[in-house]
Amino acid sequence: MNIDELLPDNIKKLKPYVAGKTIAEVKKEYGPERISKLASNENRLGCSPKVKDAVLQAIKEIQDYPDPIAGKLRRAIADRNGVKESEVIIAAGSESIISILCRTFFKHDENAVTANATFVGFFVQAGVRGIELKKVPVTGDYRFDVDGILNAIDEKTKMVYLANPNNPTGTYLNADEYKKLVDSIPDHVLLIADEAYYEYAAEVEDYLPAKEYRKENVIILRTFSKAYGLAGFRIGYAIADEKLITEMLKTKLTFEPTAPAQAAALAAYSDEDFLAQSIEVVKEGRQRLYDFFDKHKVSYKRSISNSVMMILKSEEEAIGFTQKMLEQGVILRRINAFGLPKCVRITIGTLSEMDHFEESFEQIFKQ
Ligand SMILES: Cc1ncc(COP(=O)(O)O)c(C=O)c1O
Repeated sequence: MNIDELLPDNIKKLKPYVAGKTIAEVKKEYGPERISKLASNENRLGCSPKVKDAVLQAIKEIQDYPDPIAGKLRRAIADRNGVKESEVIIAAGSESIISILCRTFFKHDENAVTANATFVGFFVQAGVRGIELKKVPVTGDYRFDVDGILNAIDEKTKMVYLANPNNPTGTYLNADEYKKLVDSIPDHVLLIADEAYYEYAAEVEDYLPAKEYRKENVIILRTFSKAYGLAGFRIGYAIADEKLITEMLKTKLTFEPTAPAQAAALAAYSDEDFLAQSIEVVKEGRQRLYDFFDKHKVSYKRSISNSVMMILKSEEEAIGFTQKMLEQGVILRRINAFGLPKCVRITIGTLSEMDHFEESFEQIFKQ
């Protein structure tokens, strides 16, 4: 068998996903006294204590297929967001919804406009479908170039994808920029506002959640993987015009997400105290990190999500720093795959994880 002949060109071009190191791998390789996993923008507090009972309950009926539309959760999401149930779709994470978008809407030869430094999951899913990506460079200040994005739209553009707040930069489109995008994008082009970090950003004064300035062509993505702490369950949702949702439901895998994931998300969604606590920990942790970086004269980007991007002098320095921190048990994320080779992303952790980060950092730079 000749694997090369077997494959279409777009799949040949893809590279397998290289995940960050797991806690077990770091323990085995370097044997540090403690490990802080600050690499994947997960919720370092864990998840709501209400989740466990809900999942145990769901497991009692695990022989049955799950509700394909996750009806109970769909109702809760619709109510909280002031939209109709028919305007909500729930799937196995926002990554799955991105995949649904790529397989539902693109005709042959159509392209998507996005930024060079935004969530790589979109690049991957577009690559799987052979969709041409027009990546507009972020500004020198690591922000989206709104005019550049609008100028990149042509007659073959089906979709504009942006994460707001953005991953990995933590920057965002302010209300005026977002309104300008919505008002200027032609009706037949879909605007994907990926709000995976919405919960951390909602209170920021000039951040405008997409649901507050919606048009028929806007699709909002949200997830339970971040502030709700359910990344391991794989569950996320989209809010959009019901005509779009109806089409997306046709290509969703029928029984995603699993029943325990649906139950977990419903329980997590009802626990506003845990959510508030998670947001508070991130707010405090971000400020603490800014103060620490200011003290050590390190460049970084202020963020409204649950991570902060550190800007080093070169790619070599970013590689060296990440490796030394790893040896100390602090797992960070280099973001070369996101188009920013000299930057490193730090997920905001608990107080003790942030202590670990700071101590390890000082240890390294003392040498
Ligand atoms: C902007 C953005 N969108 C989507 C995702 C993926 O979320 P999910 O776990 O729901 O697939 C991430 C995860 O890092 C992200 O940063």
